[in-house]
Amino acid sequence: MDTFINTNIVPESEISDAYEHMSSVRRMIKSPSYAVVRTLGCQMNEHDSEKLAGMLEQMGYTIIDDYKSQKADLVIFNTCCIRENAEGKVLGRLGELKMIKRSNQEMIIAVCGCMTEQPHIVDIIKKKHKHVNLVFGTHDIHRFPAMLEKTLAANKNVYDISSTRGDMHEVPEGLPIRREDNTKAWVTVMYGCNNFCSYCIVPYVRGRERSRSPQDILAEIDKLDREGFKEITLLGQNVNSYGKDLARANDKPCSFALLLDDICDMLDKKESANIKRIRFMTSHPKDLSDQLIDVMARRSQICNQLHLPVQSGSTEILRRMNRRYSREQYLALVDKIRARIPSIALSTDIIVGFPGETEQDFEDTVSLVKQVRYDSAYTFIYSPRVGTPAASYDNQIDEETVKNRFNRLLDAHNTICREINDTYLGKTVEILVDGPSKTDPEHYTGRTSENKIVNFVVDESKISKEDIIGKIIKVEIAGIQTWSLDGKM
Ligand code: SAH
Ligand code: SF4
Ligand code: F3S
Repeated sequence: MDTFINTNIVPESEISDAYEHMSSVRRMIKSPSYAVVRTLGCQMNEHDSEKLAGMLEQMGYTIIDDYKSQKADLVIFNTCCIRENAEGKVLGRLGELKMIKRSNQEMIIAVCGCMTEQPHIVDIIKKKHKHVNLVFGTHDIHRFPAMLEKTLAANKNVYDISSTRGDMHEVPEGLPIRREDNTKAWVTVMYGCNNFCSYCIVPYVRGRERSRSPQDILAEIDKLDREGFKEITLLGQNVNSYGKDLARANDKPCSFALLLDDICDMLDKKESANIKRIRFMTSHPKDLSDQLIDVMARRSQICNQLHLPVQSGSTEILRRMNRRYSREQYLALVDKIRARIPSIALSTDIIVGFPGETEQDFEDTVSLVKQVRYDSAYTFIYSPRVGTPAASYDNQIDEETVKNRFNRLLDAHNTICREINDTYLGKTVEILVDGPSKTDPEHYTGRTSENKIVNFVVDESKISKEDIIGKIIKVEIAGIQTWSLDGKM
């Protein structure tokens, strides 16, 4: 793709100011100083936290894990507000921190992310959590060093929320990133969402769609490849509308399919690229183009997997969710994808108990799940979000009915999931090895191109960790679980 001018980019002068503030903070804090970054929410937030941690390291902080430790000089909560329980967790933990701060009064507490883009939440923090020193939103990551400097210098609380300022259209480039993993990396391709699904808070807290320019994305991926990363996941709330804004502003074609082709071309031109796998999320069904299906089928690096949230199997519910596709259109899309890529693993998100969902609407969802046979499904109980249209719809569904439907949907999906996993028994698959399993140190874990988790035992007297972590290896599937496979090297 050609060079694109990105009118949404944060001016370079603001980024160099950010680096100056990082240097000032470095001079202000004692050495050593320790910081904890806690993340709730989606991959987008995980990746924002990598940028926050990158800046904190640049400011001289050592990143540690445990915020309950007396050692922490600074704790940041990067928050999510997609459902009520996500917000509840944060408010609960802020209460906990009040106690911890009593014995560590110098500790700086910061809250940022999606939740703090909501004025009613900022009010709660201001009134009930005065021990929180710093509050900022999702558009202000590059302003964090300046705010921290202000808090440290003036010893007072700083609240700065971009949604109240109105300048919500910025893409920051060039901030330091502290990656959590050495093998797999997130790469943001676009920020924000324009879809306004009637239940969803994201467009209100993440602003309008802004794409990063292809040249910035390619440069980041080239760097990751040279650093030895093996897998990248391209991130956006709706990656299928990537580039529409750039195409308009530059009057030349730009799309997600073209971007994927360019990324694969760049990797193919290298003598021996490290990046072997490309994933992306999330795809909105209404914007999934034939060109995207074509590039997925043609390019060997793109994983045999697609996350294609359906949300409901009832056309009437989909209409009231403002999803802009019907049950039939969704099923036709699945058929089209499978005609071109027969073995593709599909995953989905489903909301149970949307206002007005009848027993028949719910049965339509179950029958769609049985028809599509998803490899995995993330199911959620509808949670009303302040300011979204669906929160004021009539006929909110009672808790008992929702729980009952939720469990029936889980049962239906678990059976399918198990049946799909059963087909793997005895097969040899290629997995990218993540490392020792977090829950069971005896086992290592990796993922197939279809994103299936495979756990396997390594005889460490014969094979060293360095020989397999971050490598693509072959394993035979010797056992089946509902959520994972057991492999044999
Ligand atoms: N941009 C992505 C989804 C982001 S949010 C997409 O459009 O697919 C992740 C998931 O959370 C959504 O797919 C939806 O299933 C769920 N979700 C969003 N708002 C919700 C709400 N108010 N209650 C319950 N689940 C919700
Ligand atoms: Fe929310 Fe819909 Fe945007 Fe996804 S596409 S982030 S569900 S508004
Ligand atoms: Fe949550 Fe914000 Fe992601 S609301 S799901 S962290 S975009």
